[in-house]
Order: sequence, then C-alpha cells, then structure tokens
Amino acid sequence: MTAWRARRADLAAELTARFGPDDGDLLLARIERRWRDVHEALAAVFAPRHDPAALLDRLLCRVLDAYEERSAELRRLDRRREIDPGWFQSPQMLGYVAYVDRFADDLPGVAEHLDHLEDLGVTYLHLMSVLRAREGDSDGGYAITDYRATDPRLGTMDDLEQLAAALRRRGIALCVDVVCNHTADDHEWARRAKAGSATHRAYYRVFEDRALVERYEEALPEVFPELSPGNFTWSDDLDAWVWTTFRDFQWDLDHENPAVFGEMLDVMCFLANRGVDVLRLDAVPFLWKRLGTDSQNQPEAHRLVQAWRGLLNVAAPGVLCKAEAIVPPGQLVQYLGAHDRLRPEADLAYHNQLMVMSWNGVATRRADLMTHALGRMRQPPPGTAWCTYVRIHDDIGWAVDDVDAGAVGADPSTHRAFLAAFFRGDFPGSFARGAPFMTNHAIGDERTSGMTSALAGLAEATERDDAFLVDQALRRVRLLYAIAMGWGGIPLLWMGDEVGLGNDDAYVDDPERAGDSRWLHRPPMDWQAVELARTDPTSIPGRVLDTVRELAVARAGTPQLRSGGATTTFTTGDAAVFGWIHEHAAEGRLLGLANLHDDPRTVPLGVLDRLGPGAVVDVLDPAGDVVGPDGHLVLDRLDVRWLVTTR
Ligand code: GLC
Ligand code: GLC
Repeated sequence: MTAWRARRADLAAELTARFGPDDGDLLLARIERRWRDVHEALAAVFAPRHDPAALLDRLLCRVLDAYEERSAELRRLDRRREIDPGWFQSPQMLGYVAYVDRFADDLPGVAEHLDHLEDLGVTYLHLMSVLRAREGDSDGGYAITDYRATDPRLGTMDDLEQLAAALRRRGIALCVDVVCNHTADDHEWARRAKAGSATHRAYYRVFEDRALVERYEEALPEVFPELSPGNFTWSDDLDAWVWTTFRDFQWDLDHENPAVFGEMLDVMCFLANRGVDVLRLDAVPFLWKRLGTDSQNQPEAHRLVQAWRGLLNVAAPGVLCKAEAIVPPGQLVQYLGAHDRLRPEADLAYHNQLMVMSWNGVATRRADLMTHALGRMRQPPPGTAWCTYVRIHDDIGWAVDDVDAGAVGADPSTHRAFLAAFFRGDFPGSFARGAPFMTNHAIGDERTSGMTSALAGLAEATERDDAFLVDQALRRVRLLYAIAMGWGGIPLLWMGDEVGLGNDDAYVDDPERAGDSRWLHRPPMDWQAVELARTDPTSIPGRVLDTVRELAVARAGTPQLRSGGATTTFTTGDAAVFGWIHEHAAEGRLLGLANLHDDPRTVPLGVLDRLGPGAVVDVLDPAGDVVGPDGHLVLDRLDVRWLVTTR
C-alpha cells in the first residue's frame, strides 16, 4: 500500500488533467479499489525479472487509453453496473451458447433470431468462432489469426458491434472468447517469429533443446492424444520446438513475457469497447508452465487472470471475465477468486463438476456420488456466479475424483470407465448414444461426445419407436436442466437443446472434422424443429421447448435462485433422490429434490425441516400438493421439485 500512497497524488493530478475532475475522480476511485490486487498479482508473476510498479504504470496507460476510446453508451452501461454489481446474479439470467455459423448464416443473421432467444428468456449469449481463425482446421475457431477482426465469412467488426448493440437493447449480454493461451500458427506474431523476429519468437514457448522438451513431457498429459499427440511441435521456420498444448497449429503463448500480458489486455479492452459484455478466457488453467508438473492450475495462471480482470475493470467495469477452467473439483472455485483470501479473479466459471455429476446421477440412478462430491466443494465467493450447464460444445471428461469415488465405495478408474462405456451406449441397460472422444489407451481415459438428447436416451427411444422411453428421455432432459437451473449461477442452454436436437453424424464426411467427435454435438440449428415446436406442443421438439420455457420462467420468478449464495447437498433418505439446497443470504432457501430413478420414490417429510418455517410450495408445480395423502413427499419417476417457503 505504500507504493499506492506514493503514487496516488501524482496519479490524481494526471487523471484530472487528462480526463477532467469528474472522470478523473471516477478513474482514480476505480484504480484505488484494484491497485493492491493488481500490484500483488503482477509482482507474483513478473518480479523480480520486471518491476511490478513500473509495469503497472505502463499497463494503466493502456487501460486509460481504452477508457478514452470507450463510447458514451458503454460508459453509461458501466455506470449502471457499478451501481448494481450483482446484475449478472439475477435469477433472470439465462445463457445460450452457439456457433455463429451453425446458428445463423452470419453475424447479421444472428440478429434475425433474437425473437427466439427472447422467447426462451435468454439474457446472455455466448457466440463462438466470431473472430478470424486460421484457414482450414481451426479447432472450431479456437486458433485465432486476428483478435481484432471477425471471421470474414460471418461479417465485419461493424456487424459485431451492431449485433452487440441490438442484443443490448433486448437486455442480452454478449459473450465472446478471448483465446489467451495460444494463437494460430499464422497469427501475425507467429508469422513474424517465423520470419526471424526475436521479439515475436519470445511471445511463444520455443525450445531449441529437445532434452528439455522431453523433461517437460514426462509430467504433461495430452489434451488431444489422437489428433495431436504430445505437447510440442517442430517448426522448420523456427528451427525449434514450439509448445502446442492443443493442436499442432495452436501455439502456446509465453505468459512469462509481460509483452504478451499487455497484448492480451489490449485485446480484451478492444473487444470490450466493441460492446462485448463477457470475455470468456479460454483454457486459462494452461497459461503457466512449470517443469515437473502437469502445467495446469499453476498459481501464476490465477494471478494472470486476477491482473487482467483488475486492469480491465478500470476501463470497463461493466465487463465480466469468465474462466474456462475444466479442472478437477478441488481446483475449480479458485478461478472465481477463492484462494487463501478472496483475490478477485473471474466473475464467472463453468461448474464442470455439477455437469459431470448430473450425468453420473442419471446413469447410475444413485445420488450418493454427486451428494458427496458436490457437497465437498467450496462455495463460490458472493460476488461471483457459476455457469451451470448440461452440455456445451466440448466433450465431457469424466472428472470423478478418486477420493469422492472411494468415499462411496467405487473404484475410481473402473467407475470412470463405466461412465464412458455407458454414454457410448456400450453398457447393459444404457440408454445413451454418445461417442468416445480422444481415447487415451495408455492411461485408460475416454471422454464423451454427444448431444443432450442422445445422451439422455431420446435417440434410443425414437429408434425403438417407444413412447414410454421417449417420455423417460424427455423427463431425463428436464431433470438435468432442472438441476442446472436450480443450482444457482447462470444456466447455459446449448444450442439445439431447447428443441431436443440429436447427434449430427455428418461430420465424419468432412476430412477436417472427422477426427474430432465433438462435431457430433455441434449440429446446424434446425429452425424447422423450432417451427414445429412452436406450432405443435405435442411434438418432441414442442415438448422439450415447453420444458425449457417452463424451467426458465419458474427460475426467473424464484428470487432464492439469485447467484452469490451457497449450494449444499444432503442425503434425502432415498438412495435415488438427490437433494440440494441453494441458500442466498438475502433471498432465502430453495430445496431441490431430483428423483434419478425410473420409478416414483418417497422421501421422508423431515427433509422439509431444512427449509425452515413457512408453507412449502413447489415452484415447478405451484398448484400441486407437496405432501401426498399418506403424509409423504412423493416424487414421480425422474421428477424434480424446487421447494421454497412462502413469505
Ligand atoms: C477450450 C475450447 C475448446 C478448444 C480448447 C483449445 O477448451 O472450449 O473447444 O478446443 O479450448 O482452444
Ligand atoms: C479444454 C478442457 C479439456 C477439453 C478440451 C477440449 O481445454 O480443459 O477438458 O477436453 O478443452 O475439448
């Protein structure tokens, strides 16, 4: 803090001279609030090689430039959000996730479908593959060639700005990826490095020494073992090995270089000033590498996010950072800033464990593992929110922790193998029609691809033309989404799930996609199915759409589901019924019950004691009786209750 005191007076004068007394004071307050966190974070990453105070000064210049560039409209939005910093914690927040080119033809085309999103109650839209990626295979747009240009096939930066403005008018926040761990091998920095620029070579993790590469490899897992084995790629142009965690054309940036930090900060400010509300920081666990470790979740990776966010907040405090960290349950909440003390980090992070455990629950029809694993997780800091989800564009990795499996008497690797087999559809009694993703035989790991509906049994049911099984599958979809929507956080709807779209096998005919089964669950949007859903509520798409709408409406009207609370689990007295409580300090409790079984189940009434005094209502069935005639709490097969007390 001494550093701050010494700097404060000068900075105040500089800011007033440059921005006038009002804005100058506003900026001073913003900087003051974040100074310590950013300074500490920069020091932890860059000292002693670089002086953190000098670095912070230089970075502040960049964010002040970004502030200057920020439009009056966006500054007003910042002001509103500074007054209501919990704006994204409202239970009315509902996310939708889509590839631009699969959802519509292009960016202007997205604007034509906003009625559909508004009708679903969507208030947050994550659009993928917006920015210019390399030609040919680009890992679904995650190999960026130019962070300041859109994919030319989809439109221009102006189109993106217009779309952001159109979304804003409808109260929908726009989320775009910042792929900060790596660039495409044809990004300008990479091209300059190949042409001999030492400055740009130092942007990447480049190794002349094969022995060192091998030492790193000893402890490194592989993300895409089938498509891109190993973590390094030889480059003739560099005459060296370059670190490539993902595909060989995705070059990992060297975040030990503060120039890289500054470049990415500029990219974030640039996108924020185009009207992007949420920056999805891609693959953040991989940002920092450390010899002898798996080079994931290193303390410095967290520090980088903390510093970016603190600095971005000075220019654009209304913009959120979302961490894409698909990591083990014990490592997750740290991305929201829960460390030895709160160190503000991302505002949003994926609740990967909830997703994995929900699928585990429907496969096993048992609540024990999810009760235990989710019950053991630390709570997110009050100012943050999870993104809860059932499916997104990536595979499902079976992140069942060894300790959690052991606690319920399961052998961890056997159980993970069971889940992979079950969702591949190769286990007796399985209803799922998924596909393996990146099987790694050496370590016995298999991940899973597939759309929600296919994994939940709808494909099997329609193949067998069995109305009862269709009903079961639709109930399972509802159950999964009811857990995601009833947990607290921003629930994300994966494009197509709202009408129960199935797997898309066509990807195997495209040589660029054939080796990556994630394309199985990235089908083009089926607008005819949407039309059918709207005109015929008894059709399958119609039934799914009704379910999604029902949950969204119920959720929006349930203040207890405001994010920023704590979610705990409990044993319900029935092994097949999963129980959880979301408690928000100001809004009270919601008690969730999910019957994972194919038969009705009965839960002892005592569970209601957890809600405290008051008349109990099921917000998913407000007119129904919570307590059955025999004095028990009965849940129909695969049914869910969201219980609250009336006040
Ligand atoms: C993220 C993306 C994924 C991509 C990877 C590498 O995990 O969600 O689709 O393959 O990062 O950029
Ligand atoms: C992300 C995740 C990993 C996932 C991969 C590709 O980096 O960490 O679990 O498999 O992207 O989908």
